[in-house]
Amino acid sequence: MYYSDDIIEEVRTRNDIVDVISGYVKLQRKGSSYFGLCPFHNEKSPSFSVSPSKQMYYCFGCGAGGNVFTFLMEYENFTFPEAVKALADRAGMELPEMEYSEEAKQQRDLKTAVLEVNKMAAKYYYCLLRAPQGAKAMEYLKKRELSDETMRRFGLGYASQYSDELYRYLKQQGVSDALMKESGLMSVNERQGMYDKFWNRVMFPIMDVNGKVIGFGGRVMGDAKPKYLNSPETIVFDKSRNLYGLHIARTARKKYLIVCEGYMDVISLHQAGFTNAVASLGTALTSQHASILKRYTDEVILTYDSDEAGVKAALRAIPLLKTAGIATRVLHMEPYKDPDEFIKALGTEAFQERIDHAQNSFMFELSIIEKSYDMKDPESKTRFFQAAAEKIAGFELEIERENYIEAVAGAYQISFEGMRKMVMNCLMQGVPSRREPRPVKRQEQKEKDSGILTSQRLILTWLTEYPGLFATVKSCVKPEDFSDTLYRKVASMLYEQLEHGEHNPAKITNYFTEPEQQRIVAQLFNTEVPVENRAEREKAIKETIYKVVEHGITQRSRELDPTDMAGLQQLIDAKRRLQELKKLHISL
Ligand code: CTP
Ligand code: MN
Repeated sequence: MYYSDDIIEEVRTRNDIVDVISGYVKLQRKGSSYFGLCPFHNEKSPSFSVSPSKQMYYCFGCGAGGNVFTFLMEYENFTFPEAVKALADRAGMELPEMEYSEEAKQQRDLKTAVLEVNKMAAKYYYCLLRAPQGAKAMEYLKKRELSDETMRRFGLGYASQYSDELYRYLKQQGVSDALMKESGLMSVNERQGMYDKFWNRVMFPIMDVNGKVIGFGGRVMGDAKPKYLNSPETIVFDKSRNLYGLHIARTARKKYLIVCEGYMDVISLHQAGFTNAVASLGTALTSQHASILKRYTDEVILTYDSDEAGVKAALRAIPLLKTAGIATRVLHMEPYKDPDEFIKALGTEAFQERIDHAQNSFMFELSIIEKSYDMKDPESKTRFFQAAAEKIAGFELEIERENYIEAVAGAYQISFEGMRKMVMNCLMQGVPSRREPRPVKRQEQKEKDSGILTSQRLILTWLTEYPGLFATVKSCVKPEDFSDTLYRKVASMLYEQLEHGEHNPAKITNYFTEPEQQRIVAQLFNTEVPVENRAEREKAIKETIYKVVEHGITQRSRELDPTDMAGLQQLIDAKRRLQELKKLHISL
């Protein structure tokens, strides 16, 4: 944390969230909250809420949420310290000089140092490619039709055939072994000690959005394996958050971004004038990638390889992009494998044409589903349309559904009315809506949201709305009973506050500086169940508490060491209290 907790909390309390957000979104009062159209996804009716009492916002449509800092981080693309600074300015507050904790200072210094080493290495590789030793590599890149200008723009280089050149160079420049190890540029083994990770490869520096070198990819110049070698994750290189080429693509100012698979694809596309191309390197697209893309665009053209792996990767990417609020189209490259090969064979105009004809992602998904049905068999064919109808029924807006019914009817030459009836039937039977909250990070997904996580969130939400419940809740639900590390942390902070007669969810949000985490915290404090009246709510609370306690017991007994007698006794006590809970009466 850069500023002290007290300062951050003061900045927050001096900026009323309703005032701040009103500057960006038209809000209308509805009951105890304000509502407006969500600025983080496309919607026609307001599901974006701002609560003056909680000092938090939450979108029931896309799951965006947090406190006033989160809002600026998401909306203005600020870092946490930038958001603090902007709001301090807004409130006319002088901020003290940044207070770095010792640990933060070390982290920051290490990051700077690693970036510096990466820069030295990139320069070294860059020069080597252009020196006599680099002739073979240069020839290879020329054969791949890269111009000098392109090689310069992407900082391409060459790692020589000796496996200690970079090591010796960096050593000579005064870089310590420890730092070299930290940079991921070296491998270590007992026999040889430390030696270069990359040798005899053409080198692709990987840059972050600001153009800082955070890692490398190295390609062999023939058919040896592995074809590409990449830097490991380091303090500055997080594969799930970086997209190759984004530092250039973000300034391309095109309506859409092109997402492809590899280094050479990005480079070829840029060389052909498609400077809005990026790639997720050697890893599947993550939800973090999707939300980063969303900062720059609302539309993505997927140009994954035309092989089976590429299709699979596209099918995985589409829903992630959709939940981030990005519309996706899929570009068909057949008969070529990837954009690089396509452009070499058919050129820029042909590629632009393929972009213009890129397939709507829904129709793409459908065409894949179709493959598992025998369309010559009437029964199988009917089941396919049934599946299509269910998918269409998942769209939130009627107009969207109508458009897709029309598209499907047209593409498969069936009657619009027939398809419409099928969709209506699905809707009557209550197909779950596609409006799921944004996907949470993988580690937090362990406990599939079977309902228990919702129940746990409800408890935290209710505690902030009815702090009077705390006495009852704390006697039977412990912070450890929550299934997820983040939930547990939030629960213990809230319990701590409530012990002191305080309940301040926005302050708890301050402790998490990643928007991703802040969003989850916001969700924790903004979970709802539909209830008609107070009696129903009281019943819901009672049932939810019961469910959470019961789940906690099951979880504990699963983990219990059979020789742990004290643990066993606690479990027995807990089970007894669970029985008592049945008689519990909640009154609000
Ligand atoms: N990749 C990797 N390690 C490998 C193979 C691939 O990290 N052993 C990553 C690289 O980022 C690569 C991307 O996956 O760019 C796509 O792989 P592939 O299609 O095999 O390579 P191309 O990009 O087509 O590379 P080239 O044209 O140089 O063969
Ligand atoms: Mn290729």
